Amino acid sequence: MSVFDLPAFDDHEAVHIFNDEKTGMRAIIAIHSTHLGPAAGGCRYFQYADSEAALVDALRLSRGMSYKNALAGLPAGGGKAVLIKRNAFPKSEPILEALGSAINGLGGRYVTAEDVGMTDEDMTVISRRTRHVSGLPVAGDADAKKVGGNPGPWTAEGVFLGMRAAVRHRLGREGFKGIRVAVQGLGSVGRALAQKLAADGARLTVADIDEARAARLAGELRAQVVPPEEILAVEADVLAPCAMGAVLNEATIPDLNVQIIAGAANNQLQRPEDGERLKARDILYAPDYVVNAGGIINVMAEYLGDGDTDAVMARIVKIEDRVGEILARADSEGEATNLMADRMAREAIGRS
Ligand code: NAI
Repeated sequence: MSVFDLPAFDDHEAVHIFNDEKTGMRAIIAIHSTHLGPAAGGCRYFQYADSEAALVDALRLSRGMSYKNALAGLPAGGGKAVLIKRNAFPKSEPILEALGSAINGLGGRYVTAEDVGMTDEDMTVISRRTRHVSGLPVAGDADAKKVGGNPGPWTAEGVFLGMRAAVRHRLGREGFKGIRVAVQGLGSVGRALAQKLAADGARLTVADIDEARAARLAGELRAQVVPPEEILAVEADVLAPCAMGAVLNEATIPDLNVQIIAGAANNQLQRPEDGERLKARDILYAPDYVVNAGGIINVMAEYLGDGDTDAVMARIVKIEDRVGEILARADSEGEATNLMADRMAREAIGRS
């Protein structure tokens, strides 16, 4: 099948396929749109079933970045890289350098950062070959307000605010005192989110496939722990998916026991029509790419040299009103919230 015929193809501006025979580096970089600026989005390191699966992931993720960056008000388009995990060629400095050269060859049309499977140290290696990389470690404590480093805690700030807007919209409550929140996944974002929620008085139920990690955090926050296979059906006010995508689907939606969904994971809906399924069950869905934009806001401030941590926080704070606006517009037009957000994003990037 040709790339142009794949359902995930959405008039992407470019799809680049890289192969470096010497190191074994294989990567796909999809550029969905540069309408608002350089295509920005992280690099995912993942073992795919085959190269078509990697291509589809790059296409879907890069479109998601266009939407996310547009609604975050960033001067950035959307792109995404996937570095294909190959057993014979484990991730290494030469592979990351080869990827850096590939990115550099795009002349700044694509800017990379961390995604699943990549670290800030990996970004440092990539930066030996290109300056079109962000999410680099912040050196020492010379300037406490310098932006950079792991975007996870910034993403958690935005999810917290987006969730607060959803709680206000649906439950008419200010803040989280006594609100029951179930958090799936306690990694870089989920952990920071759970800590913020607990500090604001939420009652937490948490789960992680790393059960020791879940138990540790639960002890720290006096949260309840459930096995990972039970978290999606927990009775609570809010569910926060902060692990993997596609968790909201035909099979899981009938068993949900919450009024609101607001979390960090990308592509939480398996298909766009799952947004309609949630609406039919009267479950309010705060669109993932709107609430989880805090990380890319931080990454772009670093890349563009545009402001310190205070400036980043001032931009992230706007997520709360933006989520509120999308939920209100979706209500008044009787549309599913994911479709409303998609429509607003497409308008912003000049697509119908
Ligand atoms: P992470 O890799 O640090 O943490 C993910 C956590 O989820 C891990 O603790 C893992 O053990 C757990 N997990 C995996 N599968 C699970 C399952 N089935 N049930 C329960 N727990 C499970 O990832 P991070 O950075 O916290 O990101 C979380 C999600 O948010 C990902 O989907 C990511 O794409 C998305 N995201 C992250 C951003 C960031 O700034 N880190 C920005 C925007 C989106």
